[in-house]
Amino acid sequence: MAFQAQRTIVVVGGGLAGLMTAMKLAEAGHKVKIISLVPVKRSHSVCAQGGINGAVNLRGEGDSPYLHFEDTITGGDFLNHQPPVLRMAERAPAIIFLLDRMGVPFNRTSEGLLAFRRFGGTLKHRTAYAGATTGQQLLYALDEQVRRHESSGIVEKYEGWEFLGIVKDNDGRCVGVVAQNLHTMEIEAIACDAAVMATGGCGLIFGKSTNSIINSGAAVSICYQQGVQYGNPEMVQIHPTAIPGEDKCRLISESVRGEGGRLWTPRNPNDSRKPLDIPESDRWYFCEELDPVYGNLLSRDLVSFAIYCVCRIGKGVQQKEQVYLDITQMHQSRGGPYTRDQINDKLEGVLEIYEKFMREDPIETPMRIYPAVHYTMGGLWVDYNLNPDGSWNQDEPRNQMTNIPGLYAAGECEFQYHGANRLGANALLACLVAGEITSQGVLSYIRELKPSEATEALLADAKALRQSEYDGLKKSNGTENPYRLHAELADTMWNKCGIWRTQKDLLAAKEELNQLAQRARQCALIDDSDWTNQAVPFTRALINMIEQSKAIVGGAIVRDESRGAHFKMDTPNRDDQNWLRTTLAHWSAEGPSFTYEAIDTRFIAPRARKYRINQNKIVLEIMGPEALEGVGAAEKPAPATVPA
Ligand code: FUM
Repeated sequence: MAFQAQRTIVVVGGGLAGLMTAMKLAEAGHKVKIISLVPVKRSHSVCAQGGINGAVNLRGEGDSPYLHFEDTITGGDFLNHQPPVLRMAERAPAIIFLLDRMGVPFNRTSEGLLAFRRFGGTLKHRTAYAGATTGQQLLYALDEQVRRHESSGIVEKYEGWEFLGIVKDNDGRCVGVVAQNLHTMEIEAIACDAAVMATGGCGLIFGKSTNSIINSGAAVSICYQQGVQYGNPEMVQIHPTAIPGEDKCRLISESVRGEGGRLWTPRNPNDSRKPLDIPESDRWYFCEELDPVYGNLLSRDLVSFAIYCVCRIGKGVQQKEQVYLDITQMHQSRGGPYTRDQINDKLEGVLEIYEKFMREDPIETPMRIYPAVHYTMGGLWVDYNLNPDGSWNQDEPRNQMTNIPGLYAAGECEFQYHGANRLGANALLACLVAGEITSQGVLSYIRELKPSEATEALLADAKALRQSEYDGLKKSNGTENPYRLHAELADTMWNKCGIWRTQKDLLAAKEELNQLAQRARQCALIDDSDWTNQAVPFTRALINMIEQSKAIVGGAIVRDESRGAHFKMDTPNRDDQNWLRTTLAHWSAEGPSFTYEAIDTRFIAPRARKYRINQNKIVLEIMGPEALEGVGAAEKPAPATVPA
């Protein structure tokens, strides 16, 4: 192999996608600087519970990467470009074996083979898992690998630093990033040959979500405001099963249902008996009734919607926003197949979380859960480029590159893999595969890269700009409370752009966001010091969250159909004329504008939903026809530009 000069790549984000990218680039001998808001081991990947998908087919069920690909495409309701998804499914078994060799303590069968369980949206046992703390185990395994490179000086970590923006040269190429040390508040511009965004999702926009409180999406918003296109912003996933908390919602993994957990609510919601005293005949297993084949493992957009509908008509437990998620029947004492130890082998991490926060033992008492925002399918637009024969080209510099040359994105912050709805346990996989593809793309990009001119001056200018923004915000002495504004933002987004959307509500949300954007510029900041100042970074994130919210709401307005996680009740059907296209948001100070990109459907001909049920059927069976009365005729969406 020809000698390649050492280059510098900045990776923003230290979760699975960031660490995978960093590890591969360091293995290739390049200098990597990782910028992370928190110690990388605290990145949000650590919260992932249920597992990672890969069609290893150890049970001989006839599973295959192709079937995994097909489930992902149909689960995403044909909104995902197909070639990268096929690549992801094909790489999945190798990724799982790689992790196994790194020492991830995956659960095993009694023969010592990797154990796989079921997750939503598939009938196969395809999910490898390490109890119910899979994300943590994967993150720690990669962290160990990256530390080896750190100790040899090739990787440098900026932990406790916040990304403030990219630096472009005169040709529009990314040649650096600006970041701020959140202890000393010092701002630095860091030169690089390429940068990779791996900053996760934006659940904080919706207030309490299963995301960590660092997941504001601000880094994505900044890139979007600097010219990166934002793909399918309206697609935000709501996980069916979470428990509310003061700070955030705790995820109760889909793996609980994969292992046999059942969702139900008393037929009489005010039934005052203890749940285990309620006989089967008085229980409503609504998912199993809706779809006897997939039952509780319908894809999660549908399960969340079903739970929401049940509670909206006052049929949640005690007429509250809660239904039971029940594993008590899995225990031998109630006729189930498992001992307590066997249940814990599979689910202990998540059961411990429930017990800690709800003070009830889920093996003895059904859990009470409700949906919460969980994942952003939409994100920074990234590209791919195939060989002329349509096969994957791993040496293609455009793979995972945004529309800004030299700026890449991987993981939840980009839009590419999950379409309108992500299948459970595809997130960890997408992070790792995208990290691998990104590193290959970056290596191709930097191979022939000519040095950029006048970089020093551009870096200095970019740093000065961010410094003046910070100083300006620090002096802000208006009347608004940024924490109150965040609560209002969350209220708007959850109630008007959450699980039950209408054009009328979305247009109202758009107005509210415009007002919030103005008010957020008039905050009273309680701290103007330069040591661990939290008021300025929070307010800055708030401003960025509002800009991103405008894209989410705007995308929902122009997508005039129901699709995957986007339940638009006044247009409950798929738009069969205009459905095979990605919404692309473009930022401007006046608000987002939208264009569309045709979806690459070269492998599987798009077709009607595979699932036996859809939103209409859920509404009709759970809520009755009157539920849609009063939703109102859809006002036509704002026109978007459609390329010829
Ligand atoms: O339910 C879960 O364990 C979540 C998995 C996922 O979002 O992929």
